[in-house]
Amino acid sequence: MIHGPNLNMLGTREPEIYGNMTLDEINKKLLNEAVKNSVEMEIIQSNSEGEIIDILQKNNDITGIIINPAAYTHYSYAICDAIRGIKTPVVEVHISNIHAREAYRSNSVTSSACIGLISGFGYLSYLLAFYALLDTISSDKM
Ligand code: DQA
Repeated sequence: MIHGPNLNMLGTREPEIYGNMTLDEINKKLLNEAVKNSVEMEIIQSNSEGEIIDILQKNNDITGIIINPAAYTHYSYAICDAIRGIKTPVVEVHISNIHAREAYRSNSVTSSACIGLISGFGYLSYLLAFYALLDTISSDKM
């Protein structure tokens, strides 16, 4: 699980849009689902584009990645290329509905490189992304 920039501020950051849950609380919920499904999950948050690219490259051939690229979603061709360049299937996730906000947010340049996109369900988006990835991988829909 890769959390992009400013997501470390969840809980206090624009709660009317992102809710009151902290990143730690979301991570606990994700890890809980991982344990229930015997999945080993590592969770990383980074505010830096280069670091996110390094993490993607280092995880070139793992079972799956969930990423919330946060604001990079809307303009990072470099992260898009990094996702495209690895073998690992990637699911993009957003807490808010990126299509129901400012016009610039409705374009996701990174999702074209992903197997799917989940957006708009608050913290539940992460759990939906986890199960979407798990089901896609285990049922060989890829
Ligand atoms: C976000 C949506 C992005 O537009 C924004 O820049 C974020 C969070 C979301 O999860 O809703 O930082 O990715």
